[in-house]
Amino acid sequence: MNLEEIKEEALRDIESVKDLQELQSVRSKYLGKKGLVSSALKRIKEIPPEERKEYGRKVNEIKELIEERLKKREEELKKRELEEKLFREWIDLTVPVRGAVGSLHPITVTLERIVNIFRGMGFTVEEGPEVELEEYNFDKLNIPKDHPARDMQDTFYVNKPGYLLRTHTSPVQIRTMLKQKPPIQMIAPGKVYRRDDDPTHSPMFHQVEGLVVNEYANFRHMKYVIEEFLREFFQTDLPVRFRTSYFPFTEPSAEVDIGCVICSQEGCRVCKETGWLEVMGCGMVHPNVLESCGIDTDLYQGFAFGMGVERLAMLLFGIDNIKLFYENDIRFIRQF
Ligand code: FA5
Ligand code: MG
Repeated sequence: MNLEEIKEEALRDIESVKDLQELQSVRSKYLGKKGLVSSALKRIKEIPPEERKEYGRKVNEIKELIEERLKKREEELKKRELEEKLFREWIDLTVPVRGAVGSLHPITVTLERIVNIFRGMGFTVEEGPEVELEEYNFDKLNIPKDHPARDMQDTFYVNKPGYLLRTHTSPVQIRTMLKQKPPIQMIAPGKVYRRDDDPTHSPMFHQVEGLVVNEYANFRHMKYVIEEFLREFFQTDLPVRFRTSYFPFTEPSAEVDIGCVICSQEGCRVCKETGWLEVMGCGMVHPNVLESCGIDTDLYQGFAFGMGVERLAMLLFGIDNIKLFYENDIRFIRQF
């Protein structure tokens, strides 16, 4: 190919390029190390000496022309790609919406429902941080370091020594007792974190803690409050059972199961074929816990409970997999 042919072909190639990728290959076809222009420049040795100067000038002229056209074409292509993108992704934010948009997440609905029922029973609402002191999440709840009960809740630790992602809302009991003298009658809703993952367990989930401390709190009082709450929550008399259990911070302790509404207690994946689903833990506050917060155990006693909000929401709405709450699939969310 002589210089004139190279020039003509290059200009044609550049004109017909359709995207930036093609442009790149045209660039290397001519200007690359082994490209046509570079090879033409190397052939200068074969040119008679008196014509070399003119030949070199011409090659450089072609090189500059090609560079200029490539640059121009690149700008055109970039502009066109941007225009196409803007056209594809165009949204008119000024168009008025028809009807209401958005709705409350089922977990929010459930939390509000729980909080309202307890407010109606005279409970106050307390809050605590999600990055919590290890001391409040464990030690002051009668779970000393190296106690095997720490393994009951697989914990996410954070880089700051002495802190963790709270594994339950029970540290808010501690915070409340440290700042307030009995009588106490509070709940604490919020997010908690554990290294858990299956159809009924999620690494982040919600609990609502309850704590009552006064001079006469007893187990029957607790059982009444919980049963009354569940009746209000489900607006019906679901089967409820109290099963003896163990928590370091309560004694005696129980777990509360309700009849699985997904399968009407026939047995399913959600209730692991048992017909029952555990929704909360509860018990009489251990004297060590009251004492760790400076409360006189000769005068006061208390009961506490901690419920799983997702479990209650699954039962309320008939949802069979906890993951559905967090996938934000619009087809799921729209149903609430
Ligand atoms: C506790 O967390 C205790 N702090 C509850 C408590 C409070 C007992 C006060 C006594 C006094 P437990 O680990 O069992 O207990 O969790 C309580 C509830 O949270 C369970 O009944 C269950 O409904 C829910 N839950 C537990 N782990 C998960 C998880 N990974 N995903 C969703 N829900 C969960
Ligand atoms: Mg449990």
